[in-house]
Amino acid sequence: MSANDSLDAAQADLEALEASALSAFQGARDPQAVEAARIEFLGQKQGRIKTAQERLRGLDPAAKKVYGQRFNTVKKTLEDACDAAKARVERPAAAVAEGLDITLPGLRPRLGHRHPLTQTAEELVDLFGRFGFSVARGPEVEDIFHNFEALNIPASHPARDPLDNFYLSNGTMLRSQTSTVQIRVMENQPPPVRVIAIGRVYRPDTVDATHSFMFHQIEGLMVDRGVTMADLKTVLRLFAQSYLGRDVKIRFRPSFFPFTEPSVEVDMLWHGGDRWVEMGGAGMVDPNVFRAVGYDPEEVTGFAFGLGIERLCMRRHAIDDIRLLYQNDTRFLGQF
Ligand code: DAH
Repeated sequence: MSANDSLDAAQADLEALEASALSAFQGARDPQAVEAARIEFLGQKQGRIKTAQERLRGLDPAAKKVYGQRFNTVKKTLEDACDAAKARVERPAAAVAEGLDITLPGLRPRLGHRHPLTQTAEELVDLFGRFGFSVARGPEVEDIFHNFEALNIPASHPARDPLDNFYLSNGTMLRSQTSTVQIRVMENQPPPVRVIAIGRVYRPDTVDATHSFMFHQIEGLMVDRGVTMADLKTVLRLFAQSYLGRDVKIRFRPSFFPFTEPSVEVDMLWHGGDRWVEMGGAGMVDPNVFRAVGYDPEEVTGFAFGLGIERLCMRRHAIDDIRLLYQNDTRFLGQF
């Protein structure tokens, strides 16, 4: 170092040193790079900051004072930059290699849930399970015998009108009711019977707020010695109170179905309490149905019911348009 170094030259070198040291510390991506930069710039023996310090000796006293102050600031800045770089690269090596920044705030996972109709179906299985009903299943593509004949619905009956059913080829159809499962269960087991069946049914109805060409029903069947209409009313009332709440009002109206005698329609007081809405049909199993499956109507009696799952779900959640249940709009579905 010459004895008459100029202040300007020494200061310019100091600025350049600061700039390249800062970029080395800030650019370091792992602990080894930080350490290499530390040795190069801040190293006790050969560090470039050491060389910069030695230039003090070549300056005259006034310049020494100015340069010395600046030197101290730069040294402190570089030590801080070194510490910051160390802290930054002290992350799991694997995460760094994958470019994963574990310091980023997490993304909240979007959890879905079951569709309200599925929730309803599962709750019905649970409720009727407590009343001793097990679950039965039947096909959605059904034959005429199980959908109509065995249920005492003759060929002349208006329910068999081609305009009211989805007939397929070879004497099959999309089932129009889950009552078909009553027949399939009784064909396959002797009494006593206590089952429910939940599933889709199809009818060529025009879609509106209360109708759909496909909907879901729950069918119930209980057959044993001495089963009466009182059992039917008790089970349906208990069920309605369990699913819709203690204060729900239901009523039974005399009606007609070919496969029950006597028959009733069951209504529930809609949410808001201003109108009755049909929940489904029910009745005492017609002796002709027992004969069709080989049960002895002198030996056993039974009750059956068929309820609309959508209606129950809508009453429970105060939904007023059935179409909302089929549109898969998560803004709607997310509420249940
Ligand atoms: N299957 C009838 C329908 O879809 C509902 C029904 C009425 C089912 C009476 C039954 C019953 O089991 O006993 O309209």
